[in-house]
Amino acid sequence: MASNEELFKKIIAHAKEYGFVFPSSEIYDGLSAVYDYGPFGVELKNNIKAYWWKSMVQYHENIVGLDSAIFMHPTVWKASGHVDAFNDPMIDNKDSKKRYRADVLVEDFILKIEDKIEKEVDKAANRFGDTFDEKMFRETNPRVQENLKKIEEIKQRFYPALERNDLADVKLLIEELGIVCPISGSRNWTDVRQFNLMFSTQMGSVNEDANAIYLRPETAQGIFVNFLNVQKSARMKIPFGIAQIGKAFRNEIVARQFLFRMREFEQMEMQFFVRPGEEMKWYSYWKEERMKWHLSLGMSEDKYRFHDHDKLAHYANAAADIEFEFPIGFKEIEGIHSRTDFDLGAHQEYSGKKMQYFDPELNESYVPYVVETSIGLDRTFLAVLSNSYHEEKLEDGSERVVLGIPAHLAPIKAAILPLMKKDGLPEKAKELLDTLKYDYRCFYEEKDTIGKRYRRMDALGTPFCITIDHQSLQDNTVTIRDRDSMKQERIGMDDVSGILREKIGR
Ligand code: GAP
Repeated sequence: MASNEELFKKIIAHAKEYGFVFPSSEIYDGLSAVYDYGPFGVELKNNIKAYWWKSMVQYHENIVGLDSAIFMHPTVWKASGHVDAFNDPMIDNKDSKKRYRADVLVEDFILKIEDKIEKEVDKAANRFGDTFDEKMFRETNPRVQENLKKIEEIKQRFYPALERNDLADVKLLIEELGIVCPISGSRNWTDVRQFNLMFSTQMGSVNEDANAIYLRPETAQGIFVNFLNVQKSARMKIPFGIAQIGKAFRNEIVARQFLFRMREFEQMEMQFFVRPGEEMKWYSYWKEERMKWHLSLGMSEDKYRFHDHDKLAHYANAAADIEFEFPIGFKEIEGIHSRTDFDLGAHQEYSGKKMQYFDPELNESYVPYVVETSIGLDRTFLAVLSNSYHEEKLEDGSERVVLGIPAHLAPIKAAILPLMKKDGLPEKAKELLDTLKYDYRCFYEEKDTIGKRYRRMDALGTPFCITIDHQSLQDNTVTIRDRDSMKQERIGMDDVSGILREKIGR
């Protein structure tokens, strides 16, 4: 079996070969952590977007949409705290010249100790069999206890140092723990420095007094500054939400994980405005709702887990991640944050404009509290792609790579394949294509043997292949092949549309 790293490499290669994702500007050797979506990738991405939009905006009568600009007034980012606090502590290894996030180096070190503990527990479980009392073992085994103590000591020192912005102590800790550069193996580190993740550019001509502006690092602020415009124009009553899908940009220090950590990516965010004091109720509500949404994508429950934050961002009074098991391990795919009245309050202060809502039921005005759901579109794409990638050995000894993408998200719903490129079969196939193409993204292909075409459609994740053969000319029937079972069934050509509707659903 392939290791997770090998599997990840295969998925990246597959994504390129089959037109899902290409490195940006590849002919110039690419641009680090920037990617382009190919003909099948863009379909999958659009399907994920459409499903999220439908679930949030169309299915909730108290949520409306927005498409705000990427460029915003620079003071927005001062008010939001991004200018002062959207930083990562970075450190360089002088020998490999590689740059790392200092917090990631320390957290990886903690993970390694945690791994040691788990190995110790597994070993004991095997040794003692059914009589093994895991809880007691964890509480009493000296090696486990010693490692737990070590983790606690690191955390007690590390997080307060970050909080105090005591970067010298962070460096000292890295040195004391003996953390080495994974590339050079050396401990020859530079000082730790803060690195702001926002990209900036100039607006206006260079000769005139051009102003530095930022490419937005999150879509949320476009929602906050439009809060009253939306509330008034769409006549929304609290509690209500504003949803938006759009690009965000972050100059990530460590960006070596394909679509997982990109410098240009897309977010699907929803800000839910509530009465002050009711935010925890809505926070719990949205945590559950969002997990249900993930499960409705069609991937198994054990691929997901919650991670409640101990350390909260400057704007939050509660926060949790939904984590997905990517080939690189369990990692954040979505954040649910109770952002209090921090953002609206800050914009009120910096702009001098009231950001209040008059609540007719309470007969009072207030700055609403906000619960945010923020999911990465590219990470969701990666979750669907990596989860659906399977290498299968077939009964006849041959192998196939199949993407078991849930049918409702699949880039191509049906391939229309004339068995041969003659005898009127292509014409008959195009007749069928013309009846289906208004409802489903179909793909017509007449090149290669039918077996090769099936394999290609499997590799693209096409759930159904419809083959037109000589019998189709006689009795107006076709065969429909199921991607997962590879079973074929003969059905009437007039029934294809209904069958697709039934099987694809939604
Ligand atoms: N408005 C809140 C916010 O932006 P976040 O946790 O920083 O919160 C939300 O980002 C989501 O955006 C993450 O859960 C992740 O899915 C996605 N995301 C963040 N940074 C990313 C990056 N560099 N590449 C791809 N996706 C990213």
